[in-house]
Amino acid sequence: MTSRLIATLAPALLLLSCGKAAGDRPIGKAIEIAAPLGLPPVPIPADNPPTAETLALGKKLYFDPRLSSDGSVSCASCHSPEHGFSDGRKTAMGVRKQFGKRNAPAVVNAAYSPRQFWDGRAASLEEQAAGPIANPIEMDLPHTECAVRINDDPEYKTMFAKAFGHGAITMPHIQKAIATYERTVLSGGSAVDRYLYGGEKSALSEAAIRGLNVFMSKDKGNCAACHVVKEDFALFTDGLFHNIGVGLNAEGELTDLGRYEQTHAESDKGAFKTPSLRNVAKSGPYMHDGSLKTLRTVVDFYVGGGSSNPYLDKRIKPLTLSGQEREDLVAFLEALTSEPKMVR
Ligand code: HEC
Ligand code: HEC
Repeated sequence: MTSRLIATLAPALLLLSCGKAAGDRPIGKAIEIAAPLGLPPVPIPADNPPTAETLALGKKLYFDPRLSSDGSVSCASCHSPEHGFSDGRKTAMGVRKQFGKRNAPAVVNAAYSPRQFWDGRAASLEEQAAGPIANPIEMDLPHTECAVRINDDPEYKTMFAKAFGHGAITMPHIQKAIATYERTVLSGGSAVDRYLYGGEKSALSEAAIRGLNVFMSKDKGNCAACHVVKEDFALFTDGLFHNIGVGLNAEGELTDLGRYEQTHAESDKGAFKTPSLRNVAKSGPYMHDGSLKTLRTVVDFYVGGGSSNPYLDKRIKPLTLSGQEREDLVAFLEALTSEPKMVR
């Protein structure tokens, strides 16, 4: 709770300490971020409407390794377009080849997520962006130093002036620009979307259609109980936290308490945010600890009913799926792939 309070206050304090800052709000004309087929309108916070200028700035910052202490790691190092906006590693690697304990989630469709991180500790993309920059095992760049570095760069100076007005560049500006860029990393319009929402009955293979049925039906996979599919769009997540029996050690103990660390509610022990399954074929390995390598191993994991523990979600139990049905489920998950729409 305290750390969340500090995280929320930190940007405000920084703004004060920087004295004469440019306004906190983008000054340009708001632009529309069009949602692809199968996605609802993109939620936009009132104090950070996307503009062409903040978007260009956010993209530059996202791919810029100068946001790390030794200039070796950018946001894209761990969330790169080539790996479906994840990194292809079991757990993420930061500066000086340091490894954390969690898998880097794909930032695809993060715009729709009510809370960020596996444990939901950030309430917005804006708040989230501050975390990895200062984290000693990720980018390891204290926020004050980060702001100084960006202020010293003439190109950033010009871009920020156009985006937020003249004056000192602060962390809140940097966070807002990055968040705006992330809101444009959207994946929709996949074969599944064309089948479900575009009236294209030939978009999916027979196997993927059977897989969709396994995914949806309560007495088969029951996957959509948490990976939600609605009538006119599908986020493939409920945005909530569940213990599905991942990350137990040989003694059967939870190795990461997940959401519990934020809420201290007993029922949140070992609970993690339901990931969106969009582009999931590209973003392995899977789960908060990167413990499952392929989609086939994920499906087999669910068929086994997860690792038993006192906090296991009631909907996770052994499934009766034939070999064919397991393959079909994988074919369906693979049909969720689409090129995320990106800023060019
Ligand atoms: C060293 C690798 C690394 C770097 C660098 C990094 N991240 Fe991450 N990112 C992670 C990991 C690991 C998590 C999950 C951590 C957790 O949940 O505790 C994460 C989580 C996130 C999430 C939450 C996604 C979700 O579904 O909840 C977003 C958004 C994100 N990062 C954006 C960024 C941005 C923006 C930057 C650059 C400012 C960045 N990351 C830099 C590894 C990294
Ligand atoms: C009770 C809710 C729930 C149900 C039911 C459920 N999932 Fe999940 N799913 C989650 C959560 C939560 C995670 C992340 C768990 C973790 O990392 O500890 C997850 C993770 C995944 C992942 C890994 C994604 C990634 O990016 O790492 C895949 C793939 C997946 N689920 C597919 C399925 C399929 C297929 C089914 C049906 C057989 C299913 N899920 C049923 C909640 C659920």
